[in-house]
Amino acid sequence: MTIHIGAEPGQIADTVLMPGDPYRAKWAAETFLTDVTLVNEVRGMLGFTGTWNGHRVTIQGSGMGMPSLSIYANELIKDFDAKTLIRIGSCGGMQPHVGIRDVIIAMTASTINSPSSGIFKEFNFAPSADYGLLANAVAAAAEKDATCHVGGIYSSDVFYAERPDLDEQMVRHGILGVEMEAAELYTLAARYGRRALAILTVSDHLQTGEALPSEDRERSFGDMVEIALQAAFTESRP
Ligand code: HPA
Repeated sequence: MTIHIGAEPGQIADTVLMPGDPYRAKWAAETFLTDVTLVNEVRGMLGFTGTWNGHRVTIQGSGMGMPSLSIYANELIKDFDAKTLIRIGSCGGMQPHVGIRDVIIAMTASTINSPSSGIFKEFNFAPSADYGLLANAVAAAAEKDATCHVGGIYSSDVFYAERPDLDEQMVRHGILGVEMEAAELYTLAARYGRRALAILTVSDHLQTGEALPSEDRERSFGDMVEIALQAAFTESRP
């Protein structure tokens, strides 16, 4: 048991999927896992442990934004020894060729700032995904209907951004989408020698203003959960 996670020792699996929304954690656990146990409800940030194809998996909400994700990822890694952490979430599309419902597999996550910025001082660390997980996820996504993009994303501190000049530079430099958590997850994984990946569904588009209707969100979210589970439990290439 930690300050923010009420699970007993041993109740958290080596592999943890992390949606931002705790109710998505509940839905994903009930939909994709068997023998599901509720392992955390501190602050309503629900976490569940169950079994997928014979493998133990925890699905733990991270909350929104890097400070919130950082709390859960730190405790999952340092107190519960989680080895593989996969964010499953939504993002805003930033490139014309990236459409609503498309899946983005984040190779890198750029930031202005993150909870880890303080330790780096003048150094610009490049948060990046675990290559083996990324390669597995790309292979798993190829078997689905969803269009998949692999590349850099932006982890923002604000949902309601007011920097069109910055958006312009990111689009110019090929950033595929914007979300609010991955960079800190990748940085913590690098620091503690764990595997991390972020798989995202495009829920809205910054250029076109389009947004995914709420009834479609569940199906797109399901594709991501399946890609994440297959990626986690496929033997990794070096
Ligand atoms: N901005 C930041 N985070 C997001 C967005 C967005 O447009 N869409 C989904 N998560």
